[in-house]
Amino acid sequence: MLVRLLIKSGAEVQVIMTEAAKTFIAPLTLATLSGKPVLTSFVSDVQSGTWNNHVALGLWADALVVAPASANTLARMAIGLSDDLLTVTYLSARCPVWVAPAMDLDMYQHMTTQRNLEQLRSAGNFIIDAEQGELASGLYGAGRMAEPETIVAHLNHYFQHDKLLQGKKVLITAGPTQEAIDPVRFISNASSGKMGYALAEAMADYGAEIQLISGPVFLKPQHPGIHVTHVVNAREMLEASQKHFSGSDIAIFAAAVSDYTPKTKYDQKLKKTTSELTLVLEKNPDIASILAGKKRSDQFVAGFALETQHELDHAQQKLKAKNLDMIVLNSLNDQGAGFGYDTNKVRLLFRDNTEVREFALKDKQAVAYDIVHAIIEKTHV
Ligand code: CTP
Repeated sequence: MLVRLLIKSGAEVQVIMTEAAKTFIAPLTLATLSGKPVLTSFVSDVQSGTWNNHVALGLWADALVVAPASANTLARMAIGLSDDLLTVTYLSARCPVWVAPAMDLDMYQHMTTQRNLEQLRSAGNFIIDAEQGELASGLYGAGRMAEPETIVAHLNHYFQHDKLLQGKKVLITAGPTQEAIDPVRFISNASSGKMGYALAEAMADYGAEIQLISGPVFLKPQHPGIHVTHVVNAREMLEASQKHFSGSDIAIFAAAVSDYTPKTKYDQKLKKTTSELTLVLEKNPDIASILAGKKRSDQFVAGFALETQHELDHAQQKLKAKNLDMIVLNSLNDQGAGFGYDTNKVRLLFRDNTEVREFALKDKQAVAYDIVHAIIEKTHV
């Protein structure tokens, strides 16, 4: 149970319950576990007129965790209703807020709930996604509250990370690009964007502010310090990256940009009237090269190299040719590494020395931390 785990990890816990919550669990149980009376309404004693000061509560807390957050509570929070002690405390809180939704699967998937979650996320709250599992209704699917251990891990993660990159602005490109042939067809590649997004999360965990320029992927950033610009093709990715490059302290080019784009983009869908079709492709701009070419001495720029042969030589060449400070080498010869996998195996090469740092096969989140730690070390923050 969440309250017990929080107490065990050394937190002081004040429980606020909504009216609906009281029908699921007795306030006395939570009062016993937390060692403090549970607060449920604006006024704790109607006779004496003692009220529960929500402003003081909002200022006292280092973290506000709304768990489980029902569809109703999410909706009330999203539109700023202040009709019970929980919602007024939410509006008064100056601390980070974590929201762990829990509801039936159709309610969870409903576009209104998803929109509310999105709105809460963009307002700077941390959303701890519901998990798959058997639900109270007997249905199976997404909607179960994240395990209490997961929620506590999110909090620990936040509070344990030194904000070593506080105040730093970071530009990250991620995902593939799609180059249109006609209105319904395009040239692209199998990049999932997972590596770039994991880097954005890891950088944001260290306090950096991220501009993530993302090609089309099925991912959503979790951390409120990540601002995403969605783009489709290489040209758009270049333009969006150009806007943010000079204001960035660090840039990481993790996107798998299509090297070529069709020279002619047909306005209408191509008909299969001929037995052969030749597409003429022209080179796309090299975003990493163009921007790293303008790098100031106070900026640190990293790129990726995806190689299938002579990996180290090719990576060294790219490091120099693109004027990068660091290159992350992915070899497609490593089992479990690269596009489409949740894991990756990388080597890091640097401009300032000949050292090659080699890492084991890990999940992409862990790889992201290895890369971020190297950047922190190299930028001497
Ligand atoms: N990159 C970029 N814009 C491009 C092509 C690549 O910004 N048009 C960046 C990638 O994000 C990556 C690095 O350049 O950081 C290397 O990409 P990679 O595809 O490995 O190398 P290329 O330069 O495209 O060379 P090649 O495909 O010939 O290996």
